[in-house]
Amino acid sequence: MKKIIAIDGPAGAGKSTVSKICAARLSYTYIDTGAMYRAVALKALESGKPVSEELLRDIEIKLDESARVFLDGREVTKEIRTPEVSCRASDVATLGYVRKKLTELQRAMAARGSVIMDGRDIGTQVLPNADLKIFLTATVEERARRRYEELKAKGIAADLAQVVKEITLRDKQDSEREIAPLAQAADAILLDSTHLTIEEVAAEILRLATE
Ligand code: DC
Repeated sequence: MKKIIAIDGPAGAGKSTVSKICAARLSYTYIDTGAMYRAVALKALESGKPVSEELLRDIEIKLDESARVFLDGREVTKEIRTPEVSCRASDVATLGYVRKKLTELQRAMAARGSVIMDGRDIGTQVLPNADLKIFLTATVEERARRRYEELKAKGIAADLAQVVKEITLRDKQDSEREIAPLAQAADAILLDSTHLTIEEVAAEILRLATE
């Protein structure tokens, strides 16, 4: 059984949905690292100031077993999912001191094992010794369509063409940044979910995790 599973990939590839399903089936802890970057972005947005080392000094980010997100003791699970926070999260994720702080937190969270962690740099930087690494991707059009449906279902107003633009921009920024860019680890298994259902992707990851 693989004790530490790292799932990386671009926005909208289905990482968090499949990670949640796999974590539930394996009785593993799911750690959504994107939510942590989003929480930093929300804190900066709410403070009205640019993100700074000072803003991060005593930040408290907690994820509970139901994947709820808490920022400084307040639940922010919904607030961190807006397009504004998505865009700002990708910006703050380019900063070395933000990545250093969150990487430390993420490693501490994974220390006990039996975890599935998803993000952009988990297999390459955060947990390079993970037992199983997956790079989950899909075409931009398909990822945008999924993100659009997700926003609509949550009652957040969205425009498909705008979502395609935002995802394309985030892909570019996440893959081209200097520190810990989105990249497939040399030992990661590539899964393209464009023509697969969530259940099919989850089944494949579970098969790999238990083989
Ligand atoms: O997975 P997500 O869409 O919730 O992530 C939000 C942003 O955070 C994403 O655009 C890039 C950044 N991120 C990152 O740089 N490294 C991670 N491990 C996770 C997310």
